[in-house]
Amino acid sequence: MSTTFGFIGTGNMGGALAKAACRAVPPKQVVLANRTPAKAEALAEELGTGIVTTNEDIAAQCDLIFLGVKPQVMPQMLAGIADTLARREKQVVLATMAAGLTCQRIGELARTGCPIIRFMPNTPVALGAGVVQYCGKYVTQEQMDDFAALLAPAGLVDPLDEGLMDAASCVSGCGPAFADLFLEALADGGVACGLPRDKAMRYAAQMLEGAARMALESGQHPGALKDAVCSPGGTTIQGVRKLEESGFRAAAMNAVIAAYEKTLGL
Ligand SMILES: NC(=O)c1ccc[n+]([C@@H]2O[C@H](COP(=O)([O-])OP(=O)(O)OC[C@H]3O[C@@H](n4cnc5c(N)ncnc54)[C@H](OP(=O)(O)O)[C@@H]3O)[C@@H](O)[C@H]2O)c1
Repeated sequence: MSTTFGFIGTGNMGGALAKAACRAVPPKQVVLANRTPAKAEALAEELGTGIVTTNEDIAAQCDLIFLGVKPQVMPQMLAGIADTLARREKQVVLATMAAGLTCQRIGELARTGCPIIRFMPNTPVALGAGVVQYCGKYVTQEQMDDFAALLAPAGLVDPLDEGLMDAASCVSGCGPAFADLFLEALADGGVACGLPRDKAMRYAAQMLEGAARMALESGQHPGALKDAVCSPGGTTIQGVRKLEESGFRAAAMNAVIAAYEKTLGL
């Protein structure tokens, strides 16, 4: 790819994605801008990217532009680059990660009919173990493929209908917070039973990673994997009984549904 890639907003998510991009293309093809320039400068230094510049310069130069600002900042940020985008002769693709903002809305805010990719990353993209769903408007298959190839080092990169993006974001985008709560609670349980905190945390985290990998790599239903751990009359089934009694499954389902309703403004 000889394209140049711009990142406007190099906070937690923009920064993590810029890191992933730098594993897919030469870092000199990646250009950064951030409201507080020192943050982009530190990242550029770490990754060996091209210049740190302004939003307007990225809007004028780059072929694929990642919009890494918060949803509430998006109108004002896009208003600031709309004229520059309108003057472009070469086609530009905008890639938005803002929760709840559709491709249509981004196009309206940027006052452009240019191709737009909407995607939903999660925090583990920083480790290459993330999930990214993506969809597009006015985008060619080649542009979608280039986008997916660029973010491949971030983890699983999966195309999805735009109508399902909000639901997906409530599973994998919000999910790390839900999983961290479970992780902390498991470790607390270990501490209550006498384990040192650091060991309890490491065992619980490694166990969760292993259980997730078993489900992904075996393709088995989680119910079957659970059954394989629960010996008749044994200890694990007593723990499962307590989780069921406490409404664990309903709590997890309701967490996703509550996040979804909030996204839809219900
Ligand atoms: N965090 C997640 O788990 C997650 C998951 C999925 C999607 N997202 C999406 O990712 C986007 C960014 O979220 P985040 O968590 O990375 O937020 P964040 O850490 O606050 O990063 C936002 C960055 O945007 C910069 N910024 C603000 N206004 C700007 C402007 N006008 N021009 C250029 N840069 C500007 C900020 O600069 P300063 O340094 O000056 O503050 C900050 O570095 C959001 O749209 C969010 O919905 C996040």
